[in-house]
Amino acid sequence: MGNELVIGFSDQMKKKILITGVTGFVGKNLLHYFRDTIHYEITGVSRKKSKLKGLNSLLDYGISYKDLFNQNKSYDCVIHLAGQVIKISENQSSDKLYREANFELTKKIYKHFLNNDDSKKFIFLSSIHVLTEVPDCVIDEDYVPEPFTPYGRSKFEAEQYIESTNHTGKNIYILRPTMIHGPGNKGNLKSLYDYLNSGLPYLFGAANNKRSFLSIENLCFVIKEIIDNDIESGLYHIADDEPTETLELIDKISAISGKKTRKYNIPLSILRVFAILGNYLPIPFDIHRYGKLTTDFVVKNDKIKQAIGKPLPITAEEGMTRTIKSFINNQ
Ligand SMILES: NC(=O)c1ccc[n+]([C@@H]2O[C@H](COP(=O)([O-])OP(=O)(O)OC[C@H]3O[C@@H](n4cnc5c(N)ncnc54)[C@H](OP(=O)(O)O)[C@@H]3O)[C@@H](O)[C@H]2O)c1
Repeated sequence: MGNELVIGFSDQMKKKILITGVTGFVGKNLLHYFRDTIHYEITGVSRKKSKLKGLNSLLDYGISYKDLFNQNKSYDCVIHLAGQVIKISENQSSDKLYREANFELTKKIYKHFLNNDDSKKFIFLSSIHVLTEVPDCVIDEDYVPEPFTPYGRSKFEAEQYIESTNHTGKNIYILRPTMIHGPGNKGNLKSLYDYLNSGLPYLFGAANNKRSFLSIENLCFVIKEIIDNDIESGLYHIADDEPTETLELIDKISAISGKKTRKYNIPLSILRVFAILGNYLPIPFDIHRYGKLTTDFVVKNDKIKQAIGKPLPITAEEGMTRTIKSFINNQ
């Protein structure tokens, strides 16, 4: 064969990436997004190593938190996704559970990262809900946080901890995504899809608010740009370019699924009376939910786009279409 030139990446040349919470919705999508990136060596962390088995073909290493804290390996980038997202019943202990998962765990992983001089970048997935649930204006990075839920409070505490540390020589990114959607998503968008798909009517036709969403593809793109380029450390809001009107979204779901939705325009004044009653009665509608349904939640993404110096790869409309189609395909 003679002297053959082998073009490829040696293990030393590969970027070492650590992802916590890799078994979740964002983690799995990120692994698929990175699938063809041959210059990454990816380690996934889970509380249960057995959960990593299905991801073996996408991971170079699968480890537990015990393995992580017992080793002193350096990483080019730590992507900290793990956290308590799914709603747990709100009782006295819910603050504690969210705090343990979203603040204490973040603190531990972040300290471990800081202790390794050769580890370089840390990306923390916080949430736009550290700010508010019901904003009074369009949101940018200057919006003053007033977290309303145990989830928002615990994420904010983690952000404050990270910001209070000295991390000279390292790059730290706090990302605040809006609601993320994509294949495998089990959040509010999927709940809305399931609700409409069941044939039940939509009762809030009179409240056409606008919300910023985030297509998973755009989030994966932002994370990869941060790993591969010299992006300034900082706090960034991550959202698609355009907000989506709720009624437009409902029409889109109907059009793609081929299932007509009946919309009723119950006057907002009547809904508000129900919402006030809901504060005192055991019904799943209260003044807080009323606020969420009727208030715009629009997030600007200029800062991250400026830092990256590129546009986001897909529009809000395209991302939404892909997600709704993925719901239909997975029925
Ligand atoms: N989805 C969204 O719309 C959205 C929006 C804004 C921000 N975010 C943030 O993005 C990150 C990823 O979200 P996701 O939608 O992928 O969440 P997810 O599907 O719930 O996955 C999160 C992962 O974190 C780990 N985890 C769950 N509960 C935990 C706990 N109590 N303690 C420690 N680890 C726990 C689990 O991994 P193991 O069981 O394998 O350990 C889980 O697979 C989260 O930090 C979330 O706050 C999400």
